[in-house]
Amino acid sequence: AALKKYNFNIQVKNVSRLCNAKPIVTVNGMFPGPSIYVREGHQVLVNVTNHAQYNMSIHWHGLKQFRNAWADGPAYITQCPIKNGHSYVHNFTVTGQRGTLWWHAHILWLRATVYGAIVIMPKEGTPSPFPFPQPHQETNIILGEWWNQDVKTIVTQANKLGLPPQPSNAHTINGKPGPLFPCSEKHTFAMEVEFGKTYLLRIINAALNDELFFAIAGHSMTVVEIDAVYTKPFTTKAILIVPGQTTNVLVKADQSPNCYFMAARPFMDAPITVDNKPVTAILQYEGIPNSVLPILPQLPASNDTKFAMSYNSKLKRINPCPTCQNGTQVVASLNNITFVMPKIGLLQAHYFDISGVFRTDFPDKPLAPFNYTGAPLTANLGTTMGTRLSKLPFNSTVELVLQDTNLLSAESHPFHLHGFNFLAVGSGIGNFDPKKDPAKFNLVDPPERNTVGVPTGGWTAIRFRADNPGVWFMHCHLELHTTWGLKMAFVVKNGKSAEESVLPPPKDLPPC
Ligand code: C2O
Repeated sequence: AALKKYNFNIQVKNVSRLCNAKPIVTVNGMFPGPSIYVREGHQVLVNVTNHAQYNMSIHWHGLKQFRNAWADGPAYITQCPIKNGHSYVHNFTVTGQRGTLWWHAHILWLRATVYGAIVIMPKEGTPSPFPFPQPHQETNIILGEWWNQDVKTIVTQANKLGLPPQPSNAHTINGKPGPLFPCSEKHTFAMEVEFGKTYLLRIINAALNDELFFAIAGHSMTVVEIDAVYTKPFTTKAILIVPGQTTNVLVKADQSPNCYFMAARPFMDAPITVDNKPVTAILQYEGIPNSVLPILPQLPASNDTKFAMSYNSKLKRINPCPTCQNGTQVVASLNNITFVMPKIGLLQAHYFDISGVFRTDFPDKPLAPFNYTGAPLTANLGTTMGTRLSKLPFNSTVELVLQDTNLLSAESHPFHLHGFNFLAVGSGIGNFDPKKDPAKFNLVDPPERNTVGVPTGGWTAIRFRADNPGVWFMHCHLELHTTWGLKMAFVVKNGKSAEESVLPPPKDLPPC
């Protein structure tokens, strides 16, 4: 297999945005960080060397890392952090996946500035399954957030007050807020298009806390892939993308040659940015001067749940899935356990059988049936702290119902599972009804992905096959909620044969 090598040097750099300069953590001094371009089947070595005074760890979001959780990256789950002056080589082979994924820091809130795209091209000569012409060009569009304050201060604030921290000062597209913000003309992402040509946009939501709508003035988008899985193509004026997700769209430059804004704005619970302006970038037709004022797109209103539900219901696997059958084990949401980060990596504790690091008695049912989505409940606010994992036999099929509750306020949650893709078989508003709702599951062509939104005051059901032995983190991809403990992990036991067992740990695994 071809070998691709990357060096990731973690270093602090002064970067200025919104008329302020501040030191931020970067990879190779870049913000956003470097993109990784590989082909399916490539072996990838990323040597991460930490030159910063922050503990670091990098996660390859959406890569399945078969038997190889050692390369996955979340701090204290599959490894301890890489300390200042140390390095760790993430060694993995990309198998059975192609499309857009991304990488990001997986410790505290450092992913605020430490993230980049992973583009996996199909094996040489593999055509795309769509009846569309090959795109003329492709562009990565990474949505993020920018705070004028140091992120460390923001985390401390979030932890201390237990209240939403200050919203970000701006959202960003490829690290840039766009010309509606002060001092930002220079910090505007622009892509030039030729009339009549088709472009592939690889859109990534790397924001810390905000689910986002994204649209391009005048142009519709054809969604062809989500989370590196092909979907049945459909055309839409706007997309909804929650933190952690990726969406590939085709855009045809078929409008009157002009300058058009692309823009993003939060959906729902997200606090709007401090001055309530959308991030913008420019789609500029060839030959149109820079001075032309771009046209703004119409984005769905921030509380447009109807749009969100209808958008999500259009996402479907391109091929019917053979394994969507019934007959599964049901476990429910996080069930009153507030996850406590361990002192050493859970994967190590599992692999070397070190006792006392975690328990495997994660409760597989909610405490008691109650009305999750009625008036805000106070009765069930007492959670138990613990590092409690759920143990899964190798190759078992798992069904998970993620139920949002109204305990503090109804909020939507982008849930991400490491190590797997899952099938998002159902979703609804209100309380999940185990008697009635499964009848409505899509067991024909449910979208396959690694991050899914659990709607505000509603539920989402997912299924996956536990065919990847190791320890795999699952958490809300809103950093604020992860910090508060909205996370847990699965231990998938080894199968019978060596090919069904966790690989031995690499020698340079960062020690605790
Ligand atoms: Cu993209 Cu556990 O994260």
